[in-house]
Amino acid sequence: MPQNTLTITDNRTGQTYTIPIEDGTIRAMNLRQIKTGPEDFGLMTYDPAFMNTASCRSSITYIDGDQGILRYRGYPIEVLAERCTFLEVAYLLLFGELPTEPQLKNWVHDITHHTMLHESTKKFMEGFRYDGHPMGMFVSTVAALSTVYPDARHVHDASNRLLQIQRLIGKVPSIAAMSYRHNVGFPYVYPDNDLNYAENFMNMLWKMVEPKYVANPAIARALDILFILHADHEQNCGTNAMRSVSSAQTDPYLSMASAASALAGPLHGGANEEVLKMLDEIGSKDKVPAYIQKVKEGHFKLMGFGHRIYKNYDPRAKIIRWCAEQVFEVTGRNPKLEIALELERIALEDDYFVKRKLYPNVDFYSGIMYQAMGFRPEMFTVLFAIPRTAGWLAQWQELITDPEQKIARPRQVYTGHGAREFVPLEKRTSAALAAG
Ligand code: SDX
Repeated sequence: MPQNTLTITDNRTGQTYTIPIEDGTIRAMNLRQIKTGPEDFGLMTYDPAFMNTASCRSSITYIDGDQGILRYRGYPIEVLAERCTFLEVAYLLLFGELPTEPQLKNWVHDITHHTMLHESTKKFMEGFRYDGHPMGMFVSTVAALSTVYPDARHVHDASNRLLQIQRLIGKVPSIAAMSYRHNVGFPYVYPDNDLNYAENFMNMLWKMVEPKYVANPAIARALDILFILHADHEQNCGTNAMRSVSSAQTDPYLSMASAASALAGPLHGGANEEVLKMLDEIGSKDKVPAYIQKVKEGHFKLMGFGHRIYKNYDPRAKIIRWCAEQVFEVTGRNPKLEIALELERIALEDDYFVKRKLYPNVDFYSGIMYQAMGFRPEMFTVLFAIPRTAGWLAQWQELITDPEQKIARPRQVYTGHGAREFVPLEKRTSAALAAG
């Protein structure tokens, strides 16, 4: 029997099938030949939430959840966070290699010169309530850019794709800052091309009446590292949305709006905001044991803990904890850190969490740090979406250029009624319908 095959015997028919194993998987379509007769549709896999289904081949990000390993294009996240800038890592994710000095210079120039937003965006932003959640503003404005750049629909034109990629990476900090300024009622601040990516974001967020904004370098570097850590994470919920929507050849602005919408969910990128609410609710270290007891009783989840892939400490959480200490040296220590550290200490010793391999994830410490930097909790997921734009676009580009990919259209297991006789309105009583 050839190696790298699976032999399946269908006990309904006694038939045996040999199915090739490729890269640790079997092709689901190879199961369709397993039938009980010519009229049988054939076997499918049933995998709610895709717990054990590979949707694509990808060379962008590698995660080993048991070992707590995360690599972008083969480089460990720890090295990239220490040695690179975010735009350098964005280039790596998109083009597969770290840029040379000239390549990086051109890349930074191109992104910098795409930070301006069409003036119509201001009118669009004014349509939101001043106290609207900035993620709603971010998602809507990203989608609205589809109306500004109709050429983006030519998704199979490589140079057009690159232009949209540069526009989106350049503009997402401007959109994020605009939503914050709208929230606080401050005038919008235009980009300053003299500043780097993180500094310019800070400028558009926090510049007031001074002639030129000067960013605190420690805060700017910490922000840049946070952007690197959040840039991509293989087939997470938001990326799955990006790939699914763009598989219909939808333009990258509308596709990315769907990805950002998924990210907004409290189980996904919205968890960082929920962690702050949780820490506020706990209030003090001495109340942590009682809170954890309620988590164990199933009343609610410990936000910022657990992960579908990591069954070990999320490597990003370790780096964020280090980064937070650098920020606190500038901003002063966030008192909520003590509650978070106590939560982590107790949870990591408690069998409920140990048995389920629940560790702090990327969202557990990021919010505490963002708050110390001066961000409001509502902005935390927007801060996640900015760098994840590079990952979403790298995954989009990989999908569009993958000859194996086509429009995503899963199957289902039908559990509804069989064919029924129609009941005219005058005869519809609950009994008649139930009898249907
Ligand atoms: C992100 O996928 C990615 O890569 C995402 C992300 C990225 O970079 O894109 O890493 C970013 O989304 C990080 C995750 C942020 N979310 C949270 O912190 C929310 C809290 N975490 C949980 O909701 C949960 O851990 C998930 C959603 C992250 C993962 O859920 P799974 O994989 O579906 O796991 P599960 O719900 O099946 O949990 C298995 C068990 C269950 O208990 P039992 O039914 O076995 O008794 O563990 C329990 C769960 O109840 N559990 C938790 C828990 N997470 C899981 N119990 C308490 N607190 C938690 N946080």
